[in-house]
Amino acid sequence: MRNDAVRTLFCWVLLVFGGRVSCDSVGVNTFILDGTWSLHNSNGSLSLKAQVPGCVHTALQQQQLIQDPYYRFNDLAYRWISLDNWTYTTSFSVPDNVKASKKAVLVFEGVDTVSTISLNGVVIGKTDNMFQRYDFEVSGLFKDINILEVWLMSAVTYASERRKTHTAYAVPPECPPSVQKGECHVNFVRKAQSSFSWDWGPSFPTLGVWKSVRLEFFNNSRLISFSTSPKYDAVHSCWTVKVELFFDVTLASKGVVRLSIPKLQSEAKFSISLVPGLSNTSLILQINQNVTVDLWWPFGHGQQPLKQLLIDVTMDSGEKFQADRLIGFRTVELVQEPIPSSPGLSFYFRINGKPIFLKGSNWIPAHAFQDQATAVNLTQLLVSAQMANMNVLRVWGGGIYEQDVFYILCDQLGIMVWQDFMFACALYPTEQDFIKSVREEVTQQVRRLKSHPSVVIWSGNNENEAAIASNWFFIPSAEKPRYVKDYVNLYVENIKEIVSQEDNTRPFLVSSPTNGVESEKEGWVAQNPYDPHYGDVHFYSYLSDCWDWRTFPRARFASEYGFQSWPSLSTLSKVSVASDWNFNSEFSNHRQHHEFGNMQMLLQAGLHYILPNNTDPVQKYQDTIYITQVMQAQCVKAQTEFYLRSRSDIVDGEGHTMGALYWQLNDIWQAPSWASIEFGGKWKMLHYLAVRFFSALISVGVEDDDNLLIYAVSDSHKDHTLKTTVKLYRWNSFTPQCSLESDQAVVKAGGVTKVFQHPISVLLKNCKNCTRQSCVVTFKLSSSEDGVESPSNDLFLISPRDAEGIQKPNITFTLEDAGGRIKINLHCLYPALFVWLDVEDISGVFDSNGFLMISEEYTIYFTKWEPITVKDFSAKLHITSLRDIY
Ligand SMILES: *[C@@H]1O[C@H](CO)[C@@H](O)[C@H](O)[C@H]1NC(C)=O
Ligand SMILES: *[C@@H]1O[C@H](CO)[C@@H](O)[C@H](O)[C@H]1NC(C)=O
Ligand SMILES: *[C@@H]1O[C@H](CO)[C@@H](O)[C@H](O)[C@H]1NC(C)=O
Ligand SMILES: *[C@@H]1O[C@H](CO)[C@@H](O)[C@H](O)[C@H]1NC(C)=O
Ligand SMILES: *[C@@H]1O[C@H](CO)[C@@H](O)[C@H](O)[C@H]1NC(C)=O
Ligand SMILES: *[C@@H]1O[C@H](CO)[C@@H](O)[C@H](O)[C@H]1NC(C)=O
Ligand SMILES: *[C@@H]1O[C@H](CO)[C@@H](O)[C@H](O)[C@H]1NC(C)=O
Ligand SMILES: *[C@@H]1O[C@H](CO)[C@@H](O)[C@H](O)[C@H]1NC(C)=O
Ligand SMILES: *[C@@H]1O[C@H](CO)[C@@H](O)[C@H](O)[C@H]1NC(C)=O
Repeated sequence: MRNDAVRTLFCWVLLVFGGRVSCDSVGVNTFILDGTWSLHNSNGSLSLKAQVPGCVHTALQQQQLIQDPYYRFNDLAYRWISLDNWTYTTSFSVPDNVKASKKAVLVFEGVDTVSTISLNGVVIGKTDNMFQRYDFEVSGLFKDINILEVWLMSAVTYASERRKTHTAYAVPPECPPSVQKGECHVNFVRKAQSSFSWDWGPSFPTLGVWKSVRLEFFNNSRLISFSTSPKYDAVHSCWTVKVELFFDVTLASKGVVRLSIPKLQSEAKFSISLVPGLSNTSLILQINQNVTVDLWWPFGHGQQPLKQLLIDVTMDSGEKFQADRLIGFRTVELVQEPIPSSPGLSFYFRINGKPIFLKGSNWIPAHAFQDQATAVNLTQLLVSAQMANMNVLRVWGGGIYEQDVFYILCDQLGIMVWQDFMFACALYPTEQDFIKSVREEVTQQVRRLKSHPSVVIWSGNNENEAAIASNWFFIPSAEKPRYVKDYVNLYVENIKEIVSQEDNTRPFLVSSPTNGVESEKEGWVAQNPYDPHYGDVHFYSYLSDCWDWRTFPRARFASEYGFQSWPSLSTLSKVSVASDWNFNSEFSNHRQHHEFGNMQMLLQAGLHYILPNNTDPVQKYQDTIYITQVMQAQCVKAQTEFYLRSRSDIVDGEGHTMGALYWQLNDIWQAPSWASIEFGGKWKMLHYLAVRFFSALISVGVEDDDNLLIYAVSDSHKDHTLKTTVKLYRWNSFTPQCSLESDQAVVKAGGVTKVFQHPISVLLKNCKNCTRQSCVVTFKLSSSEDGVESPSNDLFLISPRDAEGIQKPNITFTLEDAGGRIKINLHCLYPALFVWLDVEDISGVFDSNGFLMISEEYTIYFTKWEPITVKDFSAKLHITSLRDIY
């Protein structure tokens, strides 16, 4: 079934993006100028062909003028590319009859970033914001052969020049930490903030024409863009859809717009009149009240029905515009209200009137060179997120507003989107031209994205409230008010104001993390934006024991938390050589952009596991990668389970947690990071564990004051009567030493229920052969009535490091072809911990991995995402467990 879902989505993406035009018109002549252009650097020493959309790095690599920029130390070797200025040029001709049109507009969907654009030697415009679409009027400039030139200035040089002109006061940070090997002053340029380096990513301050370019000729009017916003009218208990149409008009004219949603038997006609210039019209389509509107739900809570809305515009002067869009009907509220017996306010999302626990992760750009982030790549990542039972992703504010296909897929998959505006971990200038550019960016992006039911919230920035409140940049207290004023100016007086005008169908937060309405009360910068009694929290602690849930804040909503690990050797080997395969190599240090990151991973792993000591250095390197993934998976599991089980609790005034989004889903290159999916799409151990801990019904085991407590956490919309089965196994036997069954208990819908409580000392006393050292506890929920059950879970009574009797399991396998899947029959001699199946770079997923193998035989399936024979699969299959690395 999963496999089919993947296949269907791939086909669907190809269908939509393989040529079908979603917007037709009569009366406008469009010339797509994408394709092969020429490109040269400032002194002309390099001259080559380049694809548009694209960027300089990709062009140089495609022409084999440089190696893979991700290879080894090339990020430093190719720094010169971003310090030079580059010119893209193309030539084209236009038929005479079209040239005779009254108006011609050159549309750039996106330029990265600082450019001067000229047509036939005449400067037609400049750009300085990669998040804006630019429309330049070019009427009357055409010749027989037309030369279009885009001169791109180094964004690094530009940022530093802008910094120099900002003399009144500093706008920190000046530069990233040296461990990131990045460029300075990125906050002065409206460009992906991570492109100047991040703690998980390289510095590639790209230059290019990163989106489509086209020419539009018309005589009377053209449709620039449109947006569609369904809204529920609670007073009249009915749905409406607001449709906004944005036109470019040369001559006042009248026309008729027909809106229809055939599946909802709803349609209406509207007369419109357009005035010269930029003209808009806003229409409200009433949904037929005789028809039941089936609602769009987040994944795990219902279906994602989408309805086709047809837009038909006929102007009296003869132009016709046709467009369509898939829309979804749902309501979203962010609830911040008092909670009994707790100071502060709640913070949770109510979708279609139901409180929903947000389970998911954070999204970063899928590639430093966005022209290489294909629809297939995004599909694979988003399907992987859904397969891990995620219902939300936060599009983090240091990257980009994602491609349309990203949001279309989220609509289809039921993945809610928490959309940040692109500001992160910095203070920002507020010069007039900067603000003006941001205003245009925000207006355009809200209009582009608000039509998607998946987008459930806007957020002004990433961590900038916290940066001021916790004084990350060592600003003397006397100067703080100036920065707070700039903060309020940018995010409240500009961004928030625009969003409230453009979109009143979803909530807006000024920052993440924030205390929400409490931050507002405190002048938009709270004393402590990490207060667990309000809003959302980001929390990281690499050195405190991650198995100890007491170290986590019992927040209302955890929007960031996580631990690093290294990606697998097969991923690293694409960009490294054998001499790099050592945890202390120059390469290993170079790829680690988080200070002390490699050391922190080993210290955290060393708290619970024996570290690898193989005498073969490459084997030891692979084992070290493995142990970092075990550490990460188990740490994030512990923290996520803590948030999930805090849903119904108030302990010392804290709790009612309603969101757990770990940092981070995906990677931008092959390097250590907090991601659960490696660059290239391979799942780390964490992602396999996420499938289980984000399941609709889970059991969570906790040790508290010698008590073993087991909680049932249910996302179900109805109550279930369940029993809990608890077993204790010795590390050297497949026979349970003891087996206990709880009474049937009612597990409440959308809540947490304690289903088992037993003193561990008593448990062990009654279980003759078990001690903390020699046994592990497993547990599971099941129902005799409706077949509902949880994945099985486990709890270690002591760190595996200090356990007694763990044996080498000697895991062996046989394989069978099972159609689209490969069946793996595993056999072992002893129970095995964190069993890890690795097939190098073969694309696909196992139905389970990183598991506790507690019986002699296991059957695992591998779903192939590429054709592969059993023989080739067998040659690449490696199996490791915890006891195999020392
Ligand atoms: C031209 O620019 C390239 C790249 O910045 C540089 O390596 C080269 O030395 C320059 N050549 C001349 C003749 O200035
Ligand atoms: C790039 O253009 C800027 C602005 O004209 C100029 O200051 C700088 O020297 C140029 N860089 C190179 C490498 O030519
Ligand atoms: C605009 O009118 C001119 C003159 O009639 C015609 O040649 C041209 O094709 C028209 N343009 C479009 C886009 O229809
Ligand atoms: C639409 O046009 C009107 C009149 O020019 C203007 O007041 C309004 O702000 C515009 N609305 C949008 C969403 O652009
Ligand atoms: C709704 O149903 C009623 C009764 O059948 C009918 O009179 C009315 O026209 C319908 N309305 C719409 C908008 O179809
Ligand atoms: C992205 O997808 C393309 C195919 O569209 C594939 O060749 C490439 O390896 C993928 N890249 C990543 C990073 O997954
Ligand atoms: C306890 O361990 C002993 C020695 O390993 C074994 O003979 C006995 O069968 C075990 N008891 C149970 C209940 O498994
Ligand atoms: C591991 O299993 C294989 C296959 O069953 C067997 O040949 C081998 O002797 C076993 N090794 C150990 C150490 O038991
Ligand atoms: C690795 O460590 C284990 C456990 O401490 C020990 O038994 C083993 O002999 C060590 N192996 C090597 C090669 O040092």
